[in-house]
Amino acid sequence: MKTVTARAHTNIALIKYWGKKDPDLILPYTSSVSLTLADFYTDTTVSFDPTLKADQFHLDGIAKPAGKVSQFLDLVRHRADIPTYARIESHNHVPTAAGLASSAAAFAALALAGSRAAGLDLSPSALSRLARRGSGSASRSIFGDLAIWHRGHDDASSVAEALPPTTLPLRMLVVMVDTSRKAIGSRALMANTVATSPYYPAWVTTNENAVQAMVEALAANDFAQVGHLTEQSSMQMHATILAADPAFTYWQPETLTAWAIVKQLRAQGIPAYATMDAGPNVKILTLSPYVEQIKAALAPTFGERLLTTGPGPAARVLTEVPNA
Ligand code: PMV
Repeated sequence: MKTVTARAHTNIALIKYWGKKDPDLILPYTSSVSLTLADFYTDTTVSFDPTLKADQFHLDGIAKPAGKVSQFLDLVRHRADIPTYARIESHNHVPTAAGLASSAAAFAALALAGSRAAGLDLSPSALSRLARRGSGSASRSIFGDLAIWHRGHDDASSVAEALPPTTLPLRMLVVMVDTSRKAIGSRALMANTVATSPYYPAWVTTNENAVQAMVEALAANDFAQVGHLTEQSSMQMHATILAADPAFTYWQPETLTAWAIVKQLRAQGIPAYATMDAGPNVKILTLSPYVEQIKAALAPTFGERLLTTGPGPAARVLTEVPNA
């Protein structure tokens, strides 16, 4: 047995995933496309220890209930055919639960560190399928830069892979509208959207077409189309959520303020496109030459509440040490 530390970066979906066909296996209704981000990541250390009576989980140095982490490690234990409990330490370099998909980085890092610590040597595809069981978006965080998660129809076929790298100098600005915990987690709200939103079937069809269009736009380095599809997918996802019963939105007034600034910038010829996830924060997709102009336009309203990042690397092992 080994003590393994792995790092995985979070990702932001350009074409969103929203809704599970199979909540246990986490098989989505739609495929999705994402950008892995350089500056937001989770480091997780896993060490299986035969003397432990239960899994022990620390997040940023604080003991936490191991519930979801343990359930996930059960998949690893089953695969490695070991009964042993583990010590898990995670450090989040992502504002937790603020719609910045901290769960994507968390479960991708846990999949890599946990499987290696248990003596498994999984391929990126196998890791992606494993990470998917913790959080759907984690399947994409195994890969760097651009990734596509094929919705598939079973455990084997629902897997992410890297898309060919683009020469576009992609950048993402994060407007921190609110970094407190989100009111409703994505899991519960997805289930309610699928069950009650009359727009959900339309979302599935539209979004699946958008995945194909996005792959083509990226291959053609057509940023205007990449940005347009990104903004559309997000707005359509939020429209579907708004139409659910009970109606709901993650947006706050400042979410709309940021989006209005993005639209003004676009009217001035600056390529900037907004995307929002399971939280009120606004991520702005652009190209590197425009970052300063966009920051200047946002600064009067958002001050220091701005982060800029770009494409990040694949999940990787940082250290691997044999247990004493
Ligand atoms: O993987 P989850 O359960 O955190 O859901 C992610 C959902 C969105 O972030 C809103 C969209 C996406 O594809 O990442």
